[in-house]
Amino acid sequence: MRVGLFGGSFDPFHNGHLSMIEGALKTVDKVVVIPSARNPFKRGKILNAAPYRYYMTVDAVSKFGDKVVVSDVEFYIPGISYTLNTIKALLKGNRINDLVDSDNVELFWICGSDILPTFDKWYEPDEILSLVNLLVARRPGQDDDFEVQVKRVEDLYDTKISVFDIDGVDVSSSCFRKEKNMEQLPEEVRTFIKTNALYSADWLENVSDKAMEDFLEYAIELYPILKRERLLHTINTAILAVKYAVMYGGDPDKALIAGILHDCAKELPDDQQRKMAIKDSGESYDIKKLWHGPAGALMAKKQFGIKDDEILDAIRFHTTARKDMTITDKVVYLSDKIEPARTYDDLTEVRKAADSDLELGLILCVSAFVEKSKRKGMELHPNTKGFIKELRLSDRLK
Ligand SMILES: [Fe+2]
Ligand SMILES: [Fe+2]
Repeated sequence: MRVGLFGGSFDPFHNGHLSMIEGALKTVDKVVVIPSARNPFKRGKILNAAPYRYYMTVDAVSKFGDKVVVSDVEFYIPGISYTLNTIKALLKGNRINDLVDSDNVELFWICGSDILPTFDKWYEPDEILSLVNLLVARRPGQDDDFEVQVKRVEDLYDTKISVFDIDGVDVSSSCFRKEKNMEQLPEEVRTFIKTNALYSADWLENVSDKAMEDFLEYAIELYPILKRERLLHTINTAILAVKYAVMYGGDPDKALIAGILHDCAKELPDDQQRKMAIKDSGESYDIKKLWHGPAGALMAKKQFGIKDDEILDAIRFHTTARKDMTITDKVVYLSDKIEPARTYDDLTEVRKAADSDLELGLILCVSAFVEKSKRKGMELHPNTKGFIKELRLSDRLK
């Protein structure tokens, strides 16, 4: 089976990528799309968190059925992933065979013609070409230099380059990020961007490089731990928490890190969550839904190496709230309830309130929570009672 490998950062996945895949499928039987986890050429520039780009790509290519598969291999390669490492990781343990469901594969690396002049500068080009053939896209009206470059690389590496023609879709991801022209994107990608409010979080400029780097790493580390919706929810929460931290005088770095880790323990087995919650808090938690707060604080400390108490507290108390909440506690608590992908209630009013008055946003959130608990006959945790008392909500909540 002829299999095309198509790597990229896909930030976002756009119509140009679609036309590359469609074009390549005239030459190969299947395409494996490989979103980068970290990008060697874009180090220092902020790319969206890897799970956003991965799931956006999954949605974008769903229309191809089993002809196109998205690989998460780069989530499991430590450090910056160079093309060669990615190809080797796919070949290890017959991973690629399992992905495309074939015992016998011939690999092609799909790329644009722009890589030809600089191919020599890639990491170990000889070894790459010992494992894959190059499959290069030719756009309409491509100049003579294209043939020259193909011949140059073929002669230099004693290889045969395959060429495929594509429609002249003139789009680039960087151009989209500047212009935000949604027409350049597949429908599924537009929906994904809208649901998770991507490309609109200008406030992330307030985050330090170190915190941003940690956040992007944690998003990669959480990928095997949390299912799709929960992982996207935690990234959304982290980013929204930064917005409120900036607005209300909190620490954007702490909000970001507490946000990304706030639900890290939520998909651990129940008995493990309970044990960890008891260990962290010293009290017996009866309500299952609350376990992952204190359990998450313990996990953030042990597994993610978080030492900052303010971050750990925001994770610990995001399920119950508490008396004397810090701003980090508050912005994480609030963002968890109203991040863009949350749809369980009409959140218009709370979102509007949160944008102008942090306390009011919290009051509305807690009120809704208390109402729900009453309906379900659930006893409130003492921490939640402490928080309500402090906000002097008793009269409003009767
Ligand atoms: Fe939670
Ligand atoms: Fe959450």
